[in-house]
Amino acid sequence: MKMLLEIQTPARAEPFVHNLLAQKKKVMGFGHRVYHTEDPRATVLRKMSEELGRRAGQTKWFEISKRIEDTMIREKKLNANVDFYSASAYYVLGMPVDLFPLIFAVSRISGWTAHVLEQYANNKLIRPLADYTGPANQKYIPIDQR
Ligand SMILES: CC(C)(COP(=O)(O)OP(=O)(O)OC[C@H]1O[C@@H](n2cnc3c(N)ncnc32)[C@H](O)[C@@H]1OP(=O)(O)O)[C@@H](O)C(=O)NCCC(=O)NCCS
Repeated sequence: MKMLLEIQTPARAEPFVHNLLAQKKKVMGFGHRVYHTEDPRATVLRKMSEELGRRAGQTKWFEISKRIEDTMIREKKLNANVDFYSASAYYVLGMPVDLFPLIFAVSRISGWTAHVLEQYANNKLIRPLADYTGPANQKYIPIDQR
C-alpha cells in the first residue's frame, strides 16, 4: 500500500515499475517461494479490490494495481501474490495501513497454534502440511440453532 500511495495516479504506475526493475529492486506483492502460477487467493482478491473500490468511490487504487500487475506479467512473468490486491482492498475498507499485517495474522492464528502443538508433541523439525481429515459435506447450521 505504501508503494500505491507513492505512485498516486494510474499513469505513473508503469514507469514506477520500470524504474524499480532497472535498479534490480523487488516490486512488493509479486513473486512467491512456492506458487509460481497465480495464487488462487489473488484471483479472488483482485475482484474484491475492484468491487470494494467501486463501492467506496475510490477506484484509483485498483487501477494503479492493475497496471502494476500487467507490467510485472509482461516484463518479468511474475504473478501477484496474496498480499498484492489485499492492500487496495483493505485500504478502501478504511483499515489503517499499519494494521494490515495484523489482519493477515489474525486469520492464521488457529493454524499457527496447531503447528506449535504439533511441534511440541514431537519436537523434531517439522514441515507442516494441511491435510483435513474431518467430516466432509457438512451443512451450515446458523449459530443460534446449534
Ligand atoms: C517472495 C520472494 C522472496 C520470492 O523470491 P524468490 O524465491 O527469489 O523468487 P524466484 O526465485 O521465483 O525469482 C525469480 C526471479 O524474479 C525476481 N523476482 C522475484 N520476485 C520479484 C519481485 N517482487 N519484484 C521483482 N523481481 C522479482 C527474482 O529476483 C529472480 O530474478 P533473477 O532470476 O534475475 O535472479 C520475492 O518474490 C519477493 O521478495 N517478493 C516481494 C515481497 C513480497 O511480496 N513478499 C510476500 C510474499 S507472500
